[in-house]
Amino acid sequence: MLIALTRAVAPSLNRCELTHLARAPIDVALAVRQHEQYEAALREAGCSIAHAAPEPDLPDSVFIEDTAVVCDEVAVVTRPGAASRRPETAAVTASLRAFRRVEAIEAPGTLDGGDVLVAGRTVYVGVGARSNVEGARQLEERLSPYGYEVRLVPVNGCLHLKSAATLVSPTAVLVNPAWVDALVFASLDIVVVDPGESFAANALLLGDRILYSPAYPRTRALLERRGLRVVPVDLSELAKAEGALTCCSLVFKRDTDLPSPSSTLIAESRIPLKGIQRDPARSASWAMPSF
Ligand code: GLY
Repeated sequence: MLIALTRAVAPSLNRCELTHLARAPIDVALAVRQHEQYEAALREAGCSIAHAAPEPDLPDSVFIEDTAVVCDEVAVVTRPGAASRRPETAAVTASLRAFRRVEAIEAPGTLDGGDVLVAGRTVYVGVGARSNVEGARQLEERLSPYGYEVRLVPVNGCLHLKSAATLVSPTAVLVNPAWVDALVFASLDIVVVDPGESFAANALLLGDRILYSPAYPRTRALLERRGLRVVPVDLSELAKAEGALTCCSLVFKRDTDLPSPSSTLIAESRIPLKGIQRDPARSASWAMPSF
């Protein structure tokens, strides 16, 4: 069973952060209805919905993906790059404690969950306007005891890594190569968005299907030609706030579905004590790669 943690659309949504889009009036009532349809699609895909406490005065709080990275073994609460969004994490931390051990990114690290793409044990972290190298380094410090490896990815021209690239199957990634170098994902099958559909790279993979915006029909056709099951979900009002399909949920396994304790004992024994030094042999990986 999957849990999808979501949070209600804030009535203050029109005061959201904007980086790449011009401000346009958002019909909040319509945004609420679209969010309800999104939650219905999550349920239809087998998710059980849990709600974080609403934050009516935090305009971007519906974009709950940015507040945490949830893996099977641990949840890492982020420190969002936009100062206005940092208060969003408190209620999410409280919600996640019901499901996972919770760790956190600390200053001067910044990290938005929208910049984190997890593919197996590889964790791609987009470094740009919102997430910095220190945030990525702390994420690896918290995840490496469980066998995850972080790769830094330069992102240009869009808000988050997941504006530019998301998984459409466990082994395939949908990419807008104008915003991220597709070669970063050379170990995966790469599907490139239609060149006329810049924002088309954000899809929410849920088991046998992807939730996908109806605004990108040519890329949708590409995906369907590959045999992928595409479920249209319209979040047009949230798109005006620079949000997309992945942004509105944190999806993770219910802990009862996780591997038995015996299979995690080895990983547990590798959890570092707070303050432990990184292996110096790995520190070179914290230089940003150039492409
Ligand atoms: N409005 C979404 C964000 O800027 O984080």
